[in-house]
Amino acid sequence: MTAYRELAPEIDVNEFRKVVESRRSVRRFTDEEVPLAVIDDCLDMAMLAPNSSNMQPWEFYVVRSPELKKKLAYACLNQNAAKTANVLIPVIARTTTWKKNAARNIEYWPEATMPKIVKTYYSKVAPIHYNAGPFGLLGLAKKAAGLVAGIKRPVPRGPYSIAEMQAWAVKSTALAAENLMLGFRAHGYDTCPMEGFDDHRARKLLNLPSDAIITMILAVGRRAEDGIYHRRYRFPREGFVHYL
Ligand SMILES: Cc1cc2nc3c(=O)[nH]c(=O)nc-3n(C[C@H](O)[C@H](O)[C@H](O)COP(=O)(O)O)c2cc1C
Repeated sequence: MTAYRELAPEIDVNEFRKVVESRRSVRRFTDEEVPLAVIDDCLDMAMLAPNSSNMQPWEFYVVRSPELKKKLAYACLNQNAAKTANVLIPVIARTTTWKKNAARNIEYWPEATMPKIVKTYYSKVAPIHYNAGPFGLLGLAKKAAGLVAGIKRPVPRGPYSIAEMQAWAVKSTALAAENLMLGFRAHGYDTCPMEGFDDHRARKLLNLPSDAIITMILAVGRRAEDGIYHRRYRFPREGFVHYL
């Protein structure tokens, strides 16, 4: 078997910078429709985000129907971004889909043969590693075993509990959300990520399963002239970056 090679393509860093720097949280949109082809392209880019063990714990609900959008905007506390968005996309993290997705990793493996170590990981290791068990009891047992084994050597320290699995799923899903926002920007559209929503009402509207976490709801549309409220600022790098 020849080793796989993938050369890094040339990128214009200034084009990338333009996308990153021009992404702002936009609070007012025009009534222009975002084409479905653009939405789908951005979702495809979102799903290229790096994610833990390639378990792809995300889901995206594309809310375009005016009635549901209105109800969801109400659940988003009727924020301007939500009220004026052409599309609302709740970005969902799932803590249980890794079971199905472990099997999918075996099914979708893109090479003719799957290395034994990878197959063992998805078929035998992952089902134990990510399983907190009923009431998180298996997670507790794994944590205890890890504490003992960890005295002598480095060991993985989780995710053990249901809360740790939630953080696990949200981490990867938030990366997908950022890809999604940058994708829309690159297409000329804008977004506003929102966590200002009534979780209880939003989950009910979307009919979400109990393990689903709404990481954020993205408002999407064409930026209105008065869509950005103020110039952007960040704190100085020195206070946040530690060079070791
Ligand atoms: C997780 C998350 C939740 C946010 N929730 C809201 C929100 O509910 N409403 C809102 O107007 N902006 C919200 N924002 C946008 C932030 O206020 C904004 O990203 C920040 O002020 C920096 O501005 P910029 O995005 O234009 O760079 C949220 C951003 C993130 C990442």
